[in-house]
Amino acid sequence: MQHDGRDNVISRSLWPFGFALAAAAFLVGLVLSWWIVAIGGGAALVIGALWITDTIRRQHPHLLEETEGHRIDAPAVAPARPAPAGPTLSRSRFLEASTLGLGAVMGGALTVPAVGFMIAPAFEQQRHGDANLGPLDNFPEGTYMVTTFMLDKRKGDVSRRTAYIRYNGLLQEQPSFTIVSNRCAHLGCPVQPSGPISEQPKLIETSNGEVTLREANPAGFSCPCHGGAYDAEGNRTAGPPVRALDRYEYSIRGGELYLGKMYSVGTVHGTGAHARIRKFTLAAPGQHVDDWEWWLYPLQPPH
Ligand code: FES
Repeated sequence: MQHDGRDNVISRSLWPFGFALAAAAFLVGLVLSWWIVAIGGGAALVIGALWITDTIRRQHPHLLEETEGHRIDAPAVAPARPAPAGPTLSRSRFLEASTLGLGAVMGGALTVPAVGFMIAPAFEQQRHGDANLGPLDNFPEGTYMVTTFMLDKRKGDVSRRTAYIRYNGLLQEQPSFTIVSNRCAHLGCPVQPSGPISEQPKLIETSNGEVTLREANPAGFSCPCHGGAYDAEGNRTAGPPVRALDRYEYSIRGGELYLGKMYSVGTVHGTGAHARIRKFTLAAPGQHVDDWEWWLYPLQPPH
């Protein structure tokens, strides 16, 4: 068979570069947003297909287009059957392509499930509904209640969280609450109320499972890990934390208190129902949210 030497020519192409960019976007999207995953994945598929087509066109033009006058040399010994009229593929090329294809399929079959099982739980944990903490009269005005509850009843105690909840009275005829997370804004240790806590917990049953309430009258909150300290509104007063304690959104339905999503806070101005708070998307412990140092954390994983 005649050989035109094309197999030995390595031609330059931008497809690998484009494919690498799309794959990078896909991986970054896994951390940041499903939209970026979709765009990166789609672009990778399209570019990959174009790359393969282009490679085949360069190396085997007869497979993709029938060129007029294209002729295959006759073998030395006449074949038992007549040669097919369409495009042909040599045995060595066929074996090479089969081996690569099977390798890719087996590699994908082993890798994709493993990677899926690895990263899926991290995203599953983010999905939960609002947590029902029971009737409003369990929260006396002006007193912090150390409240432990389950974010997701189906997951049981592994989803149990603690929040410090204070009823501030009515604001414009609506109940007002201060609800701070016990997650330290330094490295995430559980902060404790700086003051006495009732030793007689009150247990109530809600649609979210059991909720435990303990009365407390803290002057603030402190972190046992590295000495971080916060005032009663959750503002940092000492130690390494970089911002105030995170807070929970809340809603009141049918006379019961529901906790929603968490959000981050730089500084709280004022107190109680009259506090002025600028909300930020929930940030990881240690991340600034409202000053120039925020620019050091442009990308944040989901929480
Ligand atoms: S984790 Fe709270 S001060 Fe370090």
